[in-house]
Amino acid sequence: FEYAAPANEPVLSYAPGSAERIALKKQLAAFKSEVADIPMYIGGKEIRTGNTVDLRPPHEIKHKLGHFHMGDASHVKSAIAAALEAREKWANMDWEQRAGIFLRAAELLATKYRYHINAATMLGQSKNPYQAEIDSACELIDFLRYNVHFLSEIYRQQPVCAPGIHNRVEYRPLEGFVLAVTPFNFTAIAGNLPASAAMCGNVVVWKPANTQVFAAQVIMKVLIEAGLPAGVINLVYANGPVVGDVCFADPHFAGIHFTGSTGVFQTMWKTIGENIHKYKTYPRIVGETGGKDFVLIHKSADVDIAVTALARGAFEYQGQKCSAASRAYIPNNLADDIKSKLVAELKTMKMGSTEDFSNFINAVIDERSFDKIAQYIDNAKKDPSVKIIAGGNYNKTEGYFIEPTVIETTDPKYITMCEEIFGPVLTIHVYDAEKFEEIMQLVDTTSEYALTGAVIAQDRYAVELATRTLVNSAGNFYINDKPTGAVVGQQPFGGARASGTNDKAGSMLNLYRWLSARSIKETF
Ligand code: SER
Repeated sequence: FEYAAPANEPVLSYAPGSAERIALKKQLAAFKSEVADIPMYIGGKEIRTGNTVDLRPPHEIKHKLGHFHMGDASHVKSAIAAALEAREKWANMDWEQRAGIFLRAAELLATKYRYHINAATMLGQSKNPYQAEIDSACELIDFLRYNVHFLSEIYRQQPVCAPGIHNRVEYRPLEGFVLAVTPFNFTAIAGNLPASAAMCGNVVVWKPANTQVFAAQVIMKVLIEAGLPAGVINLVYANGPVVGDVCFADPHFAGIHFTGSTGVFQTMWKTIGENIHKYKTYPRIVGETGGKDFVLIHKSADVDIAVTALARGAFEYQGQKCSAASRAYIPNNLADDIKSKLVAELKTMKMGSTEDFSNFINAVIDERSFDKIAQYIDNAKKDPSVKIIAGGNYNKTEGYFIEPTVIETTDPKYITMCEEIFGPVLTIHVYDAEKFEEIMQLVDTTSEYALTGAVIAQDRYAVELATRTLVNSAGNFYINDKPTGAVVGQQPFGGARASGTNDKAGSMLNLYRWLSARSIKETF
């Protein structure tokens, strides 16, 4: 059947007095008034080990939201066994039936559970309501609906026949199970990585980041309510290396769908390589990893567009996006204007709890991240060759708060121009406005990553030149916009080089990776 391209889920405004604002506040209060006891979900059963880990809002670390039950190697093994047991029936289920489950899950998220998923993301991951709405509601809903659409397009693609020859292609799932390892920063990605593989008929072991479990369990409950059969997606909480050791040693391991750090991805790839002789089938390795995303401003740029691209691109969700703008190249003819407007703009961004909807900046995810980011800021403070022109303060007494910080350096290869920080730190470098071509070479060669990037220019020749020159520097390239906020169905998302395998989330390119085709020829 054909499932037409859906419209993107409309983003609700949460304006003061709106019905959605009242409903979301009510859900936040409900989550705050209870202590959640969160099990693993293996083979359709809720598993409680008693070995619990507390969950606390990163912006209010004294409050306990709940705890989850941590598993060990035996639980990962049970999850694999449950997945393999569910496999045959799931793989052979009519595609239309499978699609119905994910479309129903999208509908439940859009209506009955919209405030649950948003409130869980706001409390668990310290994301403000507007960013939560875009990510955990709309983007996740869009992933589910668009992937049904894309998959229906793939299934319809058939080879030509010839006189006396009937050809067809069956798009089978992989022979084994898929491991989904998901990050804290996007609830949409956490849901999409297991769901997209499962939609193709695969069975999945899903290991979320510990810091995203509060919202992950909401997704799991929605999938179950939507009719997902037991064992198709198994949600386990265990240490990453334990999950890896068990899954990568299993002969039925058929693929990994990963979003997270470059280091972890490379380590996993090596382990998979070392075990390659064990597997029944070559595993699919799909990963979206780090970024060191640039904003390149041309001397013809509109200053206001440039300032918005920097302020929003670098500091939405405290810069904890692999797509976040973290290095900017500013031409000297516009530098004073851009810097003063940027500093003024950052002063308007209030910082605090996500429960006060007027706060734009909330806390970073955990103490480890906080300490790492603070270290970069401290090093910059001690370095006479760089200047902190905005922010620079941090405090972790109530929660992990770090001010939006802008470092200015004369050295385009200064450490914070090169390394991914994953926090609210933007580094700017002012260049000679007449040396645009030289600066493009630097943009291309300064970082090992190639995820997102933006060029800000009114001069169309400059736009064209940057688009051509920076052809391999960013998988998602933006013209006169911030380099974040890809919308499913509009800008397929992903990067190459050290940023990942560039199998574009929310596109056919990604779904093909979870399919293993069989060609059938019949002669008459
Ligand atoms: N898709 C997100 C963005 O574009 C990042 O994962 O910002």
